[in-house]
This record gives sequence, C-alpha cells and structure tokens, in this order.
Amino acid sequence: MTDIQRTIDETLPFAEALAREAGALALSYVNTTEVRFKSETDLLTDGDEAVEALIAKAIRERYPDHRLYAEEGAVGADESDWRWLIDPIDGTTNFAHGLPTWAVSICLEYQGTPVVGAVYNPPRDELFLGAQGRGATLNGEPIRVSTIDTLRRALVISELPQGDLAVNEMIGRWNETLKRVQSIRVLGSAALDVCEVACGRIDGYWQRPIMNYDIGAGVVIAREAGATVSAYDGGPYILDNKELCCTNGLIHKDVLELIAITHPAPTETKGSE
Ligand code: IPD
Ligand code: CA
Repeated sequence: MTDIQRTIDETLPFAEALAREAGALALSYVNTTEVRFKSETDLLTDGDEAVEALIAKAIRERYPDHRLYAEEGAVGADESDWRWLIDPIDGTTNFAHGLPTWAVSICLEYQGTPVVGAVYNPPRDELFLGAQGRGATLNGEPIRVSTIDTLRRALVISELPQGDLAVNEMIGRWNETLKRVQSIRVLGSAALDVCEVACGRIDGYWQRPIMNYDIGAGVVIAREAGATVSAYDGGPYILDNKELCCTNGLIHKDVLELIAITHPAPTETKGSE
C-alpha cells in the first residue's frame, strides 16, 4: 500500500467522527442561531462559526502539517500536498430558516484531487462517506448512482445563484431545461446535491459558480458511487475552477449538450481563495 493510500485510509474514520461531532454541534444551534449578513442575501450564523472552529481545531491538532481552506476563513499550514476543504454548514440559508436540508462537509484533497469526503445531514441523520479506491456509503451501506438513461426521465438539480440579475438569467435556462428533463429541484445545499446523485435519488446536478469547499467532499463520494464528474465542456473536473457537472454517467452527454445551450459563457464567481 502506498503512503498516500495509507493517509486516505487513516483520515476517513477521522473525517467521519468529526462530521458527526460537528453535526451534533450544528444541530444544537437550530432555531436559536443568530443570523448576520455577509451581503444583502448571503447569511452567516453563529452556528457556522462555532462548527468551523470545532472542525479547524481538530484538524490542526491531528494534522498540523496539512493546509486548510474553510468557508468562514479558518486556515492551517502554509505548504502541503494535503489540503482540507471545510464547509461547516452547507445550506446556511436553509439552516437559518429551520429547513432540514443542510450539511457539514469535510473534504481532504491530495495535490488537487479530492480523496476523502464526509457529508453529514444531522436532521435526517444521514452520513455520506467516500474515499478514493474505497467506495461510497450512506450510513454504512454502499451507494450507487441511478440507472435512468434518458434525460426526459431524469430528475435534476439546478441551484439558484445569489442576486436578482442572476435569477433572471436562470429563468431562461430553466425554460430550456424543463423542455428536456422530467423536472428540476432546488434543494439549497450543493454538498447534499452531489450526494443525492451519488445515492441515486437525483440523476444529475450542475452548478457554476460553486466553491471547492461546497462540493469537494461530495465529488469523492459521487465518483466512488459511479458518478461521472466533469467541467461544463466535458473536460476534467478541476477542484478550484468553480464549476461542476455531476450525473449518473448515462445522461452525462445529454446534460453537457444542454449546458452548452444554457450556459454559453462563464458567469461571475462567488469568493476566491
Ligand atoms: C451555498 C449552497 C447552495 C449553493 C450556493 C452555496 P452555503 O452554500 O451550497 O446550495 O447554491 O452556491 O454558496 O453558503 O450555504 O454554504
Ligand atoms: Ca456554508
């Protein structure tokens, strides 16, 4: 076994335990959390900050040599091939409103490739795990993408970008998309969106811009569950490029064709490292 695989195997149970601990802490903030605003529509709660502090402390103690990049600003070592990507609460808007679709997302990346992922949704007590070469599970049971092979039968996710202008653009895209798919869902947590594809409840998801800490963990889980992940042009998925198309594989080509029609040019990006 290589040193890389050894680290992957060792960090998986660590990420699993940490996601559960962080999820329990997040749950204790539901309905009492204080909400602040990063922008007019972008929320931050004291739950996000407390959960990120817990995760960052645990990673710094156990892996002081690893880098760390987290949504609310926590950092780790300066240089390393290993980097943790943390979204303490993905789906903060849902969380702040008391809706159950949000998750703790913990990803470990090696030289640009996400290799370990833990996505935990405490309200449903659903823990998705994946590690490169080791498969993907939901609450310990192996998961697999769906077998839907026709776009017209596919239930897909398309998230809403923030801001009024982007929403207008989105309505045009949805018009085109709805002509070709079974239906669209907007769940409000990109980390869970990717996991829904991984476990076969959703057939395809794509989003741009989307941050690496939102989807890195989900990408490992989805890949290990047999999903196809790529950039919008069908090229390799690149963690820091803020775009992802993730499907069950069988509808991937059709989804890419749809994306080529609905997303002709890159849009503005949210945040940067
Ligand atoms: C957001 C969610 C949402 C997606 C946004 C993300 P946050 O993450 O994943 O589904 O559409 O692009 O920013 O802010 O709730 O962690
Ligand atoms: Ca977040």
